[in-house]
Amino acid sequence: MIFKKNRRAVSTAILIMGAISGFSQSIPSLKDAFKNDFGIGTALNNSQIEERDPALTQFIVSQFNMATPENVMKSALIHPKWDTYDFVVPDKLVEFGKKYNIKINGHTLIWHSQLPSFIRGIHSKDSIQTFFNDHIKTVASRYKDNIFSWDVVNEALNEDGTLRKTVFLDYLGEGYIAEAFRLTQQAAPNVELYYNDYNNEQPAKRAGCINLIKKIQASGARIDGVGIQGHWHVGKVPFKDIEESILQYAALGLKVMFTELDIEVLPRNFQGADVNQRMASNPAMNPYTAGLPDDVQQQLAADYEALFKLFLKHKDKVTRVTFWGVNDGNSWLNGWPVRGRTNYPLLFDRNNQPKPAFYKVIGLKK
Ligand code: G3I
Repeated sequence: MIFKKNRRAVSTAILIMGAISGFSQSIPSLKDAFKNDFGIGTALNNSQIEERDPALTQFIVSQFNMATPENVMKSALIHPKWDTYDFVVPDKLVEFGKKYNIKINGHTLIWHSQLPSFIRGIHSKDSIQTFFNDHIKTVASRYKDNIFSWDVVNEALNEDGTLRKTVFLDYLGEGYIAEAFRLTQQAAPNVELYYNDYNNEQPAKRAGCINLIKKIQASGARIDGVGIQGHWHVGKVPFKDIEESILQYAALGLKVMFTELDIEVLPRNFQGADVNQRMASNPAMNPYTAGLPDDVQQQLAADYEALFKLFLKHKDKVTRVTFWGVNDGNSWLNGWPVRGRTNYPLLFDRNNQPKPAFYKVIGLKK
């Protein structure tokens, strides 16, 4: 009953705020269009979680029914000092989810990147093990009843499918991955548990990912799903590899998710999303500051349409599609791998207006 009332309140607010902010009431809703197929998620940044722009909040809750924190649950932010946790914004995210009936995917418990700075001063296996155990136990148990899922381990693989050299692999050995799943399951028994990576649709990395999943399963720990991040490039989306990956991961008994979807349109000389890789800035690397040329816009639309066609074909296996950002203006791809670029990787433009790609995607449901 309370929920129904809230929903009515939200719809009314959408009408009012829509009129104020100028975003059109006639924009169809992605989450509604795909409600019988899979969840539609977005990454949320601090300002969005804190609802600093009410009109934007209403836009977000009208389009998405799942959300992943873009940064605030990463260990550097949620666990800044050895014995200090900062739950202020993560707690607000959980409240946001409750208020608007949006399922929250926790991101992420164990990742080699965005670690707290104190980790650099630790040089013993015992201390790394203590950090690992305490971090998982404290964070996972705090949200055990109010988030839907965790990216338990993120990006543990190299491109050739071997295990990435990280502080966890170095000190704890390869068993750290299954152990992370076991500890999370213990702390949060009712939360879904996922492994998440980029390029894990590529054959070599996929083989490594399958191997890693089988080891978790053989250890007796539970793993519910695998996230394919989906940071792809316009005109080069690897559709065949994506389809093959959906089939192979689902054959392991796992849910398949596209967890950080964006299709970038700017020049780049490598694939993937390794945040340590950077490129030098020069004007040729930032060609569309005045707007996206029509041919690129159409290619982007065609890529998104073909992707969603594939997701729909396998909707019995694909449970969620999450975009890495609400609109082009807040995408991380404006700042990486070259700072200060104007990128156009999502379905909504900088004013939350639908792009041609949005209409192609929504058109699949008409
Ligand atoms: O919060 C600080 C701020 O205090 C400081 O003034 C500013 C100066 O640069 O930096 C701010 O931190 C930035 C943070 O985002 C919050 O905006 C970091 O520099 C920046 O590196 C960080 O980037 C994030 C990146 O992960 C870091 O690893 C991106 O927003 C985020 O989109 C990205 O997300 C990752 C996924 O978690 C995992 N998969 C790849 C994906 C894209 O890289």
